[in-house]
Amino acid sequence: MSMDDMIMACTDIHKRYGELEVLKGITLNIEKGSTKVIIGPSGSGKSTLLRILGLLEEPDKGKVYFEGIDVYSEKVDLNKLRSKIGFVFQEPSLFRHLTALDNVALGLRVVLKLSKEEARKKALETLKMVHLERWADHYPAQLSGGQQQRVGIARALAMDPDIILFDEPTASLDIELTWEVIDVMKELSRQGITMLVVTHEIGFAKEVADWIYFMDHGKIIEENTPQELIYNPKTQRAKTFLSRLLEGT
Ligand SMILES: Nc1ncnc2c1ncn2[C@@H]1O[C@H](COP(=O)(O)OP(=O)(O)OP(=O)(O)O)[C@@H](O)[C@H]1O
Ligand SMILES: [Mg+2]
Repeated sequence: MSMDDMIMACTDIHKRYGELEVLKGITLNIEKGSTKVIIGPSGSGKSTLLRILGLLEEPDKGKVYFEGIDVYSEKVDLNKLRSKIGFVFQEPSLFRHLTALDNVALGLRVVLKLSKEEARKKALETLKMVHLERWADHYPAQLSGGQQQRVGIARALAMDPDIILFDEPTASLDIELTWEVIDVMKELSRQGITMLVVTHEIGFAKEVADWIYFMDHGKIIEENTPQELIYNPKTQRAKTFLSRLLEGT
C-alpha cells in the first residue's frame, strides 16, 4: 500500500478529558476507496476518535495524517483539510427553515462559493444519489427521520469530500428507516466513496466493510475482516459484545 492510496491515518493517538483517559494509543489507516467500520461498547471512545480524525479536536499525543500530510505540522491549513472531510452524525441537524435542496446547497454556496444556480444543480444531483429528488422542496419537518438523515448524507456528499466519517447514523431511527439509510450507505461504498463508519449495523459491516475495528476502553483490541471478526472473534470482550449484538438482530 503506497502513501498515494492512503486517505487518512493516525498513529498512537491518546486523548484524555481531565482524569479520564478516553483514547489510549489508537493506530489505523484508511485507504482510498475503502469502507472501514468501528464497533464497540458505549463509552469506548468511538466518537472521540472520529472527532479527532475529522480534525474537530486535537489529540494529546500521536499523529494524524491526511493524504500523507501530518496535519499538526506547521503551515497546514486545517480549515482547508476539514473541507475535504464529510461528517454524518446521529442527528442530521438540518436547518428547519430551509428545504432539503437548500440544506444541501448551502455549503456549496458558502464553502465552495458556487453560484446559486450551480449550487442548486449540484444539490439536486446529490439528492438523486440518495433517492430524494422528489423531496427536494420539502422542509425537514415534512420528512421522515430516514429521509432527513439521507439529506444529511447528501449534504456531506455534495461537497465532494475525500472521505466521509459516519457516527452512528442510524442510531436514532426505527428499523425500517434504518434500512433506507443503510441501503444508501451501501451504494456509496460500492461506488468507491471512502468511508469510516461507527455503527452497530452488522449487516452493513458484513456486506460492504473491508475491515472492522473493535474498540474497548480507548483501545482497538481486535481488528479483522468482517467475516473473521463477526464469526470468529478472538477476544472475550468482542465475543460477548457481538453475541449481544447478534441476539438483537
Ligand atoms: N468533551 C468531553 N469532555 C469530557 N468527557 C468526554 C468528552 N467527550 C467524551 N467524553 C467521555 O469520553 C468517553 C468516551 O466517549 P465517546 O463519546 O468517545 O464514546 P463512544 O464510544 O462514542 O460511546 P457511545 O457508543 O455511547 O456513543 C466517555 O466516558 C465520555 O463521557
Ligand atoms: Mg459515540
